[in-house]
Parts: sequence; structure tokens; C-alpha cells
Amino acid sequence: MQGGGGGGGLDEASCRTETEAEKEAWRLLRESVVTYCGNPVGTLAACDPGDKNPLNYDQVFIRDFVPSALAFLLKGEGEIVRNFLLHTLQLQSWEKTVDCYSPGQGLMPASFKIRTVPLDDTKFEEVLDPDFGESAIGRVAPVDSGLWWIILLRAYTKITGDYEMQERVDVQTGIKLILNLCLSDGFDMFPSILVTDGSCMIDRRMGIHGHPLEIQSLFYSALRCAREMLASDEGSKNLVKTVNNRLSALSFHIRQYYWIDMKKINEIYRYKTEEYSTEAINKFNIYPEQIPYWLMDWIPEEGGYMIGNLQPAHMDFRFFTLGNIWSIVSSLTTPKQNNSILNLLESKWDDLVGNMPLKIVYPALEKEEWRIITGSDPKNTPWSYHNGGSWPTLLWQFTLACIKMGRIELARKAVDLAEKRLYADHWPEYYDTRSGKFIGKQSRQYQTWTIAGYLTSKMLLENPEKASLLYWEEDYDLLEICVCGLSKTGRKVCARGAAKSQILV
Ligand code: GLC
Repeated sequence: MQGGGGGGGLDEASCRTETEAEKEAWRLLRESVVTYCGNPVGTLAACDPGDKNPLNYDQVFIRDFVPSALAFLLKGEGEIVRNFLLHTLQLQSWEKTVDCYSPGQGLMPASFKIRTVPLDDTKFEEVLDPDFGESAIGRVAPVDSGLWWIILLRAYTKITGDYEMQERVDVQTGIKLILNLCLSDGFDMFPSILVTDGSCMIDRRMGIHGHPLEIQSLFYSALRCAREMLASDEGSKNLVKTVNNRLSALSFHIRQYYWIDMKKINEIYRYKTEEYSTEAINKFNIYPEQIPYWLMDWIPEEGGYMIGNLQPAHMDFRFFTLGNIWSIVSSLTTPKQNNSILNLLESKWDDLVGNMPLKIVYPALEKEEWRIITGSDPKNTPWSYHNGGSWPTLLWQFTLACIKMGRIELARKAVDLAEKRLYADHWPEYYDTRSGKFIGKQSRQYQTWTIAGYLTSKMLLENPEKASLLYWEEDYDLLEICVCGLSKTGRKVCARGAAKSQILV
């Protein structure tokens, strides 16, 4: 465990006294720190003293560590983050197999544990023991881990100013390995990444296989981070070009095909189907009958959002909070779309925030859908856990998005709401019911990313100028890139060129 440092009760940046909730949160966050060979390297997912069966919650998760890292960085404590980045980097090229099959080399683990192994009768050695999905429930590879690693590396560099770190040969190689894995050619026709169900924060079957928005928005921001951090030498030239082309194609694809608002839903409602041609309007052959009943009444006049997933003849109309918020943060969505998403969140506050920010997905899968899509998962019953539960950790991403769009009041409202309950309820992992009224059925208490998400949100609100180091503005150059060359041939028209005018910048 890490000792000392900070936590004295006075918030240095604002010179105000910390609240009881903040004091406790800092104490708990520090207690969750794990050391490796005497150095702090991460935080445990949960430290619930009442939990007799912690499963893998006693491990350091890559995605869970991000808000912890930001809390430490904003407090001026970069060491733990640096150690985390360098140690997880070593795990990247670990030999990993599931039933004699090995995934790609750049894969980052979902989590790791520190084990003590005996060397002889008297001596012990500490080893890092990663889980790439070969022990995780469901055996799913965590696609988001590598993306979060790149995003965190850039945040570390921006906040500490330690640029030497990203220039190290091993760090540059790490970035390239992750990129190679994400950018490798496959059978896919889309610029978005194709993944299996449960490959991100929602790590159980929830019907998000294919091209889920969360992965696409993390992919987009990781590409933007990597482009900034890759050394500008001959060796990286082609990779940077590939990254730029992918960024451009990805943002076009998502902005054009994932966006819905009242106008777009009405268009889909009147879609013709079975259009066989390159000029088809209904490119993915979406049957209008697919528009769910709840959506017709739910979509407000003002506002819109990115759907959860797009596949042939399938649009997943559920609202996934992290994917939408991270699209705002990374500028995957246009400035106008960013504001529209926040308008929707504001007008649907009771559904998406209710008693506890924020609902992970809206609405929940029920009855037959729940049975077929989740595989009758008793943890993911309607309005619980991943299936419409409320996850306070999402507060920090929401706060960041609100600060970026100049809507601080919205973030404050959410933080105030969370602050009151989280402290009293002992920092639960998630809340259940339609309005987030109850502590989750199987929720851990003293969940670290709940605690860290709250602290990070508070610090971002106190120092909004620091927030600007963690989000991206629109990149206008990207909108100009198009590599298909069709517009010049005259025979066929480049679909992107033709649609450009519709993409509201
Ligand atoms: C659960 C969550 C996952 C999280 C892990 C540790 O498996 O679904 O997102 O990383 O717990 O907190």
C-alpha cells in the first residue's frame, strides 16, 4: 500500500476545505493502491470488506484504473500512473493462450494481479499476473484495454509534461503494436472495429457484438492520441498516414450512419427496402418495422444521439451512455451533434440520470429479448447491472463532456446528486431500477472507480482549464481527406463527397 502524500483535507487548487465525502474518497482511493516491488502500480477494482467472494475485483483493471489515474494526476501525483503505464506495457507481449490459441501480440490485459511466489524456503518474489480474458468470465478479449492505455498515456503526458516517457522506444513500440492490432485488414467492409460481445466496459453478453459505439469512440480517440504521440520519423510515416485515413473514414461513417434524431427516425420510418445498387439510400437494408415503439415516443423534438450499433439490416437503437459521451469528448461527433446529445440527456434526465448518474444503457432488455440476448443472465435482469443499471463511474466522462461544451451546470447537477448518495451508500459499483433508486442487487461497495470517478469529476469542475488537456476539438483537416479517388474518375460518384453537405460541422 502506498503511504502518505496529500489527503490533508485542504484542496490546494481552490483553497477550500474538502467535504467529508471527498476526505473519505481520498482515503479509500489511497487504500486501494497496490504496490509491486515497493512501488505503486495501480488500484484494486474494489475493496469491500464485506465481500467474501471478490472474484476478480481484487485485481487492477486497466479501464477501472483510468479515473484513479486522472485523480492522482490532477492532484499532482504522476508516479503511480507512470509505473502503471510501464508495467502494463510489459504485459502486452506476454505469452497468452486459450486452449492452445494465441491472440495478437499487442493485446492488453483486462486486469492484472500481483502474486507472491516462493523462490525457496525463505525467499519470495512478486510477479505480475495478467488476465487477457483467459480466466475472465466468458473468456472475452478486452478490446478497450489497449485503447484506454493509449488515451491514458496521452493524458499522463499532457498533465505532467513528461514527454520523454512517450518517446521511449518501448513505449513507441507499445503504441504501434496496439495500432497494428486495431488497424489490421480483415473481411470487414466498415471502418469501425468489429468485435465480439462483451469486449469493453459491458463485459458480459448484452447484444453489443459487431460495431458497438463505445469501442468506436474509444478507437477514434486512441487514434487521435497515437497520431499526436508517434515519433515523426521515417519509420512511422506510413502508419501516421493510415491512422489519418482511418480517422477520416471512421468519423464520416459514424456521423452519417449512427446519428438519429426525430428527422432521421422519420426518414427511416419511410425507408424503401431491398434496394440493390451503389446509390441505395437505405444502404444497410434497415426494415422500418425495426424502429422500437419506445423510441417513437421517447425521442425529443430537440436533441439526438448515436445509436449503439450498426450491422446489415440491424440498428441497435438503445442509448449507450459511455459511447455517446466519449464521442463528444473525442469529437467523433460534430459540434452540433455534441450539443444535441447533451440536450437529449437534459430533456431525458429522469430516464438517464434519475436518482443516480448515469444509466449505462437505455432502455433495458426485457422478457424474450432478455432471455435470448443476454442468455438469461441473472445478473443482467431488466434495469440491473449492465442492462439498464446506473453506474456512478460514468460521472467523470459526463463532467468532461459538459465542461467541453460549456454546460458546467449540467455536470454540477449530476455531481451534487451523486455526492449525497455515494458517501452514504459506501460507494457502490452500480444502482438498480428504472430510476436508479436502489443499490445494485450484486453491487460491491467501496468500488474504486466509483470513488475515483467522483473525485476526478470534482477536480475537473474546480479546474476546468485542466479538462481541456483531456478532450479534443474538431479536426477540420480530417474532413477533407478522402482516399477513394472516385470523384475524379467521373464514372461513379464518391458517396462521401456527395453526402458531405449533410454532415453538419
Ligand atoms: C465488471 C464490469 C467491468 C469492470 C469490472 C471491474 O466486470 O463490467 O466494466 O471493469 O467489473 O470493476
